[in-house]
Parts: sequence; structure tokens; C-alpha cells
Amino acid sequence: MNTLDQQTTSEQAARKRIKDSHTLDADASRLAHFYRGWAPSYDLDVGRDGYCGPKIVAELAGAMQTAYLARERTAIAILDAGCGTGLVGVQLERLGFQLIDGLDLSEEMAERARRTRVYRQVRGGVDLNGLLSDYSSASFDITVCCGVFTLGHVRPDALRELARVTRPNGFVIVSTRKSYAETASFEDEVRSLQNAGILIPAQRLNDGRYVAEEDAHYWVFQVPKKASAPTEERP
Ligand SMILES: C[S@@+](CC[C@H](N)C(=O)[O-])C[C@H]1O[C@@H](n2cnc3c(N)ncnc32)[C@H](O)[C@@H]1O
Repeated sequence: MNTLDQQTTSEQAARKRIKDSHTLDADASRLAHFYRGWAPSYDLDVGRDGYCGPKIVAELAGAMQTAYLARERTAIAILDAGCGTGLVGVQLERLGFQLIDGLDLSEEMAERARRTRVYRQVRGGVDLNGLLSDYSSASFDITVCCGVFTLGHVRPDALRELARVTRPNGFVIVSTRKSYAETASFEDEVRSLQNAGILIPAQRLNDGRYVAEEDAHYWVFQVPKKASAPTEERP
């Protein structure tokens, strides 16, 4: 097999693994099992597939901090929910963020994120389809979640917990693969959380680059200011 054939075979294998990850029905034990096997080759596979979600999500976090948050970037606490091997954390650190925590369902993916040394703390074994009981309300200025609101992974109602752990006036930034956003009725959940006063859709990048075979939408939500909560930001 020549080098070009080898490259094509590796790309095809990477695409197959990505596709296989979409068939896991948001089942925690299947997801954990799948990512245990994928952790060693994840970065290489998604790199081969042109995955640029982490860069876009991190840059949106940077833009929100510069535009709307009064504190310096180094003092902004960020939760990277579904941090995987740490691709988003690495991009956040590149942009000057320093207080980054991560969580993931897969202990093996979380361990790789720890090894990047850009996170303060990374918790494995945390299921975003349940309650984030180890995390207090309003703990983070920005919560990011990239590549996780995708087929077979996390349900749209996981947004509610991401909003709870984010402080009033803070931001929740997520990517949704286009086919996921449509099939999971993500927008209906957004509307229902907005009506309940839990999140306000603030910005949205439609049809942004994501992976070679499909684009994504990138959403920025703001957590509404509670009537009596003190705040340092402008309204
Ligand atoms: C496609 S990877 C994205 C990882 C990282 N955010 C990135 O952009 O490279 C999806 C990650 O979500 C995690 N995950 C899947 N289902 C989850 C769940 N229910 N709760 C928490 N993490 C989950 C997987 O273990 C995996 O690390």
C-alpha cells in the first residue's frame, strides 16, 4: 500500500469511528465503553477529519469575555463540559484563559485532558444527561460544551444544568452538529428554557465549519441576571 492509500484508509477509519460514535443512544455505559477505546486515537482521528469546533468555541468565549465581562481573562472561571482529551482547553489557554475546569463521562478521555496541564481540575465519570451534583450553582463565568450536543450523546435538556452552574450574566457556549440540532429539536428546548427564564439566546453562528462532512451551529446563551443578584457587568 502506498502512502496515499494509507492516508485514505486512515481517513476512512477515522470517519467510521466518528460515525459509530453517533449510534450510542445517549446510553452512559455504551458511551463510556466507546470512548475508552477511542481515547488513544481520538485527537489524530478528529484532526484527520478537519475538526475545528474547539477553536471556534474557544474564540467565541474570548469574544464574549472581551465584549461583555468586566474581569480580566485570567480571572474568568470556565467549565469545559464534555472536555474529552482537552482540545477546547488547549485553545482556551492559547487565548489567555487560566481558570479552566473540565468534566467528562469517560475517565480515559478525562485523563488525557489532565495530561494537557491546562486544566485546574478534570472530573471523569460525570454524566451530562443527569444532574451535575458535584457542581454548585453559579460557579462559572463561562461554560463551554463542544462536540457533545451531537448524535447519540447528550440530550438538549442537558442545557438546563449547564445554565445552573453558570453565574447570572455569564455565558453558555455550545456547538450542535446540524443533523443533531434538527433531529433532536434543539431549538424547541432552547425556546422552552428561554420561556422559563433560564437562558437567553445571545448570539449564533449558523452553518459554521465543524468537520469535513458536516457543519455545525454555534450557540451563545446568556444566563439571565436574577432580580436581586449583585453584578459587576453592565446590563
Ligand atoms: C466528540 S467528543 C468531544 C470532546 C471535546 N469537547 C472536543 O471538542 O474534542 C465527545 C465527548 O463527550 C463525552 N460524553 C459523551 N456523552 C457524555 C455524557 N452523557 N456526559 C458527559 N460527557 C459525555 C465523551 O466521553 C467525549 O469525551
